[in-house]
Amino acid sequence: MAQNPPVGGRTRRRPQARARCALSLLTAGVLAAAGVVALAGTAQAAGALGDAAAAKGRYFGAAVAANHLGEAAYASTLDAQFGSVTPENEMKWDAVESSRNSFSFSAADRIVSHAQSKGMKVRGHTLVWHSQLPGWVSPLAATDLRSAMNNHITQVMTHYKGKIHSWDVVNEAFQDGGSGARRSSPFQDKLGNGFIEEAFRTARTVDADAKLCYNDYNTDGQNAKSNAVYEMVKDFKQRGVPIDCVGFQSHFNSNSPVPSDFQANLQRFADLGVDVQITELDIEGSGSAQAANYTKVVNACLAVTRCTGITVWGVTDKYSWRSGGTPLLFDGDYNKKPAYDAVLAALGGSGGGGDDGGEGGDGACTATYTRTSTWNGGYNGQVTVKAGGSGITGWAVPVTVASPQKVSAVWNGTPTTTGDVMTVRHSWNGTLAAGASTTFGFTVQTNGGTSAPVVGACTAS
Ligand code: G3I
Repeated sequence: MAQNPPVGGRTRRRPQARARCALSLLTAGVLAAAGVVALAGTAQAAGALGDAAAAKGRYFGAAVAANHLGEAAYASTLDAQFGSVTPENEMKWDAVESSRNSFSFSAADRIVSHAQSKGMKVRGHTLVWHSQLPGWVSPLAATDLRSAMNNHITQVMTHYKGKIHSWDVVNEAFQDGGSGARRSSPFQDKLGNGFIEEAFRTARTVDADAKLCYNDYNTDGQNAKSNAVYEMVKDFKQRGVPIDCVGFQSHFNSNSPVPSDFQANLQRFADLGVDVQITELDIEGSGSAQAANYTKVVNACLAVTRCTGITVWGVTDKYSWRSGGTPLLFDGDYNKKPAYDAVLAALGGSGGGGDDGGEGGDGACTATYTRTSTWNGGYNGQVTVKAGGSGITGWAVPVTVASPQKVSAVWNGTPTTTGDVMTVRHSWNGTLAAGASTTFGFTVQTNGGTSAPVVGACTAS
């Protein structure tokens, strides 16, 4: 493409814990008799970045390639970090309909199944695009092409109906540069400007629940191209053409830096009455400079109410479409880069011992929180309490769960609750040798709340 580089092991439980667990059984109906989750077939952890974003009412995803899912480090990094996936190539026209009306969904299905088994959402990418088109499409005459386009949209969206949160219905239909013109493509050249509207209208008839997005690059700031897209979206909204969102790919490097008006540009689109999503984020560079650019992007999204999520275009630098620019959050060995820390911090997820994945303590002990499972309406958290350089005989950790969320079960610890703050103290497991650890866990019924629990510092006794 011509692009300007742009929680387990419970052995004892106190009476309160059993009472809370009974409540949980009544309300959620998903806890096993042991009081530990048995969530087979239900959603599990969305991952650290995904959870931090969810606490801000947003998703945080990654583009995924089916052929890497068998690599343990790839899959474990994906599962531990992300809450949404986009098939990088597997849902494109050439992948799913290489021969006319003969559909092959196996690679994309592998990604969707993996995501569903891990409680991740799926973004659909993409239905109508001039690139990665199989050879049979371009020669079709207008009437036939229209029919092929509508059939493609219908078959693919029907196959994935109910499984996709947002679809890139049309991708990259505008030219680069100052003309604001539509890009030449078989669709544009034979069907005219109306092909975009027709694609959206067809998509809505197939899946009324998926968000229908227009997606493009070099539209991240205000410029001739984004102005042209803006006018199209404005026109669609005025005429009732079904469009729900605009995707900003956000491929950045030194030639195409994060625009200073990125947030303003997102906001002007949102003000038209559509959601905005950052759909293919990657930023070439390294170290603190790259981290600072990632922070800008995440902060811009968080500042725009209708910015509903961010997807980074890959999990690890080594499989990036421009790996030489090391544009992602994990290096080739799956180490977290400074950009990762910056994104997690911007999402409010690092918190110095507060939020998911954080660690904190008075030196005598530390508390490290992880979310271990998630389901519709609740989740389980686990806190690992670790003794410092000296042994301890007791510990306490405050956990704040914001209303309307409610803790419905605690195990391997004794809770005392005041308002939203639950202080969990040791039960049978207070004595820890130097460097030894134990865990306690809790179940939260979210009741519509989305914020992550804040796990405070461990104090030893
Ligand atoms: O799978 C074949 C492999 O069998 C073969 O040996 C190899 C030889 O080149 O090609 C492999 O396919 C490549 C495929 O990526 C998987 O790696 C294609 O050649 C290559 O063209 C394809 O590139 C993809 C590109 O879209 C195509 O335009 C990138 O992975 C993908 O990241 C990129 O994604 C696009 C978005 O869809 C739209 N926005 C821009 C973005 C970045 O270009």
